[in-house]
Amino acid sequence: MAREDEDWRRLYEQDREPDIEDSQAGVIFYNDTVIEHFTNPCNVGEIDDADGFALIGDPSCGDQMKLWIKVEAGHIIDIKFKSFGCPGAIATSSMATTLAMGMHLDDARQLTDDDVVRALGGIPANKQHCSLMGISALQAAIRDYEQRIVQRP
Ligand code: FES
Repeated sequence: MAREDEDWRRLYEQDREPDIEDSQAGVIFYNDTVIEHFTNPCNVGEIDDADGFALIGDPSCGDQMKLWIKVEAGHIIDIKFKSFGCPGAIATSSMATTLAMGMHLDDARQLTDDDVVRALGGIPANKQHCSLMGISALQAAIRDYEQRIVQRP
């Protein structure tokens, strides 16, 4: 193996340690769980007859996402999202929807971005703000659902 390859391998393996949170030399290292949720995100799509909907944007980077929920007997029985966002936003939205699926609304309201990051096994510190998108959209969709309930005749 060439010297340069060995150096890169050593750097790569160091940064694969689970407690590594920061990027180094301008390169961001995601763990395997985050990469899996980015490359094969769960709950992508739309719900035509949704009970709650949210459109959320992050003004600092311009990323956006839409999220739909279907509610039955106080539980989220379906949840879908579409994201125009970075890998961190997509992976954390995938995990946020995975956690929320099937939850009672009272419990889903308590979910935080920390829960999402913990479930993913961590995310680089400079991408932490991306984890807010999925959770913010979930909370906004729940509020939208509640407003629709109040407005029903
Ligand atoms: S950089 Fe915009 S949400 Fe990640």
